[in-house]
Amino acid sequence: MSRSARASAFSILENDGIPSRLRRGCDALFTLAIFAWLAEGVFRTVPTLGRDVLGTFGWLELSIAVLFASEWALRVWIAPEQYHEGAMTATNARRLYLFSPLGLLDAAIPIVYFFGDRTLGLGGAMIEIVELLAVFKLTRYFPGLDLVFSVLRTEIRPLGAALAAMLTLLLLASSVMYYLERDAQPDMFASIPASMWWGIVTIATVGYGDMAPVTPFGRLATGVVMLIGIALFALPAGILANGFAVELKRRDFLVTWRLVAKLPIFADLDAAVIASIARLLQPRAMPKDSVVIRKGEPAHGMYFVLSGELEVHVPNRTVRLGQGSYFGEMALLSDQPRSATVVANVDCELLELGSAEFKRVCAEYPLLKERVEAEAARRAAASAKP
Ligand code: CMP
Repeated sequence: MSRSARASAFSILENDGIPSRLRRGCDALFTLAIFAWLAEGVFRTVPTLGRDVLGTFGWLELSIAVLFASEWALRVWIAPEQYHEGAMTATNARRLYLFSPLGLLDAAIPIVYFFGDRTLGLGGAMIEIVELLAVFKLTRYFPGLDLVFSVLRTEIRPLGAALAAMLTLLLLASSVMYYLERDAQPDMFASIPASMWWGIVTIATVGYGDMAPVTPFGRLATGVVMLIGIALFALPAGILANGFAVELKRRDFLVTWRLVAKLPIFADLDAAVIASIARLLQPRAMPKDSVVIRKGEPAHGMYFVLSGELEVHVPNRTVRLGQGSYFGEMALLSDQPRSATVVANVDCELLELGSAEFKRVCAEYPLLKERVEAEAARRAAASAKP
């Protein structure tokens, strides 16, 4: 099949940032299927329901397993679309998906469902556990879930340092308590490892009360450990909050990068060049019938069309601009007021490049400037025609 069919399938299955009804429908279908699959797996463990009652939903389980198997095959096919053209061969892109954690899970669930029992000889518990792992498939549809894993991965070092500090406190506190309490409560604080239970419960400020100090010094030490425990527990929370903020910013940028890479004017540029331009662009949502540019007004930037359609009112006619095109460059190049009025025909998503940023891009990438100048000259000539 052609590359454009693959690109369309990609934009339906994967979020490429361009809003689409088909993708929303597809996301809803998969989310529902995963929830139904998980509900079946969870309720199967309720003895009063058991396999007999749920057996009546066998057709649903089978349909979802077929859906998951087809999804896996589709994702293998569209994997090359994930990367900028030329950045990676199709085989490597597919290998990357096949051996990614989600790729392995996408394959494992239908394999275990269809072949786990007889062909692979897996036990019932093993099959059920693999099937319940479908919860991780939700990370595709609930970005928050995936975010948690990314943040844990990127913040592993500071989190490790916080954990090391907690372990040090645990060892010190438990050892001190062992020496302070062992004579008064030899059964409870029988050893340092036994005292560590008290340490964990106290540092975590849970306080079950099953092990409590009775000596004055033991109580004093407990008070100190509680206060330090609160401070140490706040540390990972702070690290995670910062990690979330950084990760969200990075993702926003990645979405913009993908969108910019898709615009024809930038499509053949280096990934690094696209990245530096993407940093300069601001998303703008324009509702239907709004005036984006008014003839005669001073220019503050130019626009790239991510989705929607706009009309340029030039003398005696209107010119339509669709997804992938740009406008507002003429006034920036000539330092003149706007040459025409541009109105959104439908709800539009645009990326704006401010005038200062436009000048920077022109100075740094003369090839782009030439392209924009050539197009502006063509447009000016077309507008001048009677
Ligand atoms: P600018 O003059 O900054 O603001 C109005 C914009 O409309 C202009 O830049 C061009 O981007 C766009 N425009 C003007 N004339 C035409 C045309 N003939 N075809 C397409 N776009 C045009």
